[in-house]
Amino acid sequence: MIDLEVGPVAHGGSCVARSGGRVVFVRHALPGERVRARVTDRSHDRYWRADAVEIIEPSPDRVEAPCPHAGPPRPAAPAEATRPGAPGGAQGERGRTPLGQGGCGGCDWQHASPAAQRRLKAEVVVEALRHQGGLAAHVAHDGGKGDERGVAMGTSGLAVTVEPVPAPGGEADDVAAGGPARQVGQGGRARQGDRAVAPPAGEGLGWRSRMRFAVTADGEVGLRMHRSHQVVATPDCRIAHPLVVDAVAGRRFPGAEAVEVAASVSSGRVAVRPTGGTSRDVGRAAHGGGLVERVLGREFRVDASAFWQIHPAAARTLVGAVLAALEPRPGERALDLYAGAGLFAAFLAEAVGPDGEVIAMESDAAAVASATRSLADLPWVSVRPVRVTAATVRHCVGGGARPADGPGGGGGGIDVAVLDPPRTGAGTDVLTALLALRPRAVAYVACDPVALGRDLAAAAAAGYQVDGVRAFDLFPMTAHIECVARLVPMP
Ligand SMILES: C[S@@+](CC[C@H](N)C(=O)[O-])C[C@H]1O[C@@H](n2cnc3c(N)ncnc32)[C@H](O)[C@@H]1O
Repeated sequence: MIDLEVGPVAHGGSCVARSGGRVVFVRHALPGERVRARVTDRSHDRYWRADAVEIIEPSPDRVEAPCPHAGPPRPAAPAEATRPGAPGGAQGERGRTPLGQGGCGGCDWQHASPAAQRRLKAEVVVEALRHQGGLAAHVAHDGGKGDERGVAMGTSGLAVTVEPVPAPGGEADDVAAGGPARQVGQGGRARQGDRAVAPPAGEGLGWRSRMRFAVTADGEVGLRMHRSHQVVATPDCRIAHPLVVDAVAGRRFPGAEAVEVAASVSSGRVAVRPTGGTSRDVGRAAHGGGLVERVLGREFRVDASAFWQIHPAAARTLVGAVLAALEPRPGERALDLYAGAGLFAAFLAEAVGPDGEVIAMESDAAAVASATRSLADLPWVSVRPVRVTAATVRHCVGGGARPADGPGGGGGGIDVAVLDPPRTGAGTDVLTALLALRPRAVAYVACDPVALGRDLAAAAAAGYQVDGVRAFDLFPMTAHIECVARLVPMP
């Protein structure tokens, strides 16, 4: 055990402290706290990892975690400690950890108030924009309302704020009228009904519409402990949408290594897919290949294995941010890189109209099939089943900058582009190839601010500047954050 004065938050959700000249990344702490911590990893020369097990001086931002599985693993009761899989007891590869003992590796910040979580995320984004992106950025202290596009950019650089999103079941949910939606009951469980999904109790809970549960050797579902194969055996994940919890509660999946659950909150349908081990992958066959997702009046038929935004408010929030950043006009040519099931391509297509064109590039076959199916009413969208690389971007778009004679000119190049790459980012080559097409505006949607910062540095080298970054709290209780950066050519 070591006593630590906790410093600023780091990328990934731990905070930075020092002990004997060494950096210690400490989990379950908050900046400004004094804590007693158990060292959990001494394997690195330059830093240790630790877990705050006792809070000596708490931060005013600290709250009681709403989930009993959150926080550091707590010592088991004597009877439990002798069981195989209990912390400190005999542990198999996929051993089981007693319930109600903390230790779940899923959430980083259940112990911080929602407002404090957003402030910490803003600090992480600012740090990444400064260090990886070389940009002047700071946390907005005025709430950072920004201009009419929601973008905050002043003389002192980028002002970053993290915007909350509506809770699941809020009035803005895209739920089918009279559809087979389920309603959340008092106990946090869904029940069949003919009304829309009601909000779960507690901000930041009940939002995860897609989950990968671990499975114990006995077939129980659960959640992995932090950096461990140990499983906290329970379906009771408080950030999971009740449709998801309901789909696995009371069930066993013998022989499976994991269970993937995808719920369409807008239609109430759920797909359950045991994977790995000796389980049969029954997902697609059992569910006819598709969930219906409704966003701003459009329907997407999405294969359960294809990417879809996880928070029920994410799709419409990000579509709004991307359209505000690009302001696509009728007749323009737009590019959607890493298009998934065609979410952004669909709304770009509606904006540019039949005199315009949208090219959507995506490598996953299930996502390509979902996009092709969902965008069939927009024949000026072409979905290209390709890996995004510098060469495929040039090949698909046709090279050359957009002619100066305005929208619908019919030459190579593009007018506007959105890219939403996986966590690793797009990389310098792809970004350089994209920006060589001289779009008048680019919306970069990023789930990792460090990768975003790196790519924004590459954009600067290619003659583009960042004129705003918005950040959205689409993953409450975790350290994850979604950003949308707008890029325009340097004057
Ligand atoms: C973060 S998701 C975004 C999907 C979509 N924009 C949305 O919001 O629903 C990233 C997508 O990129 C795809 N992908 C990952 N690497 C890729 C690559 N090198 N080329 C093309 N697509 C890729 C994944 O299959 C996934 O659908």
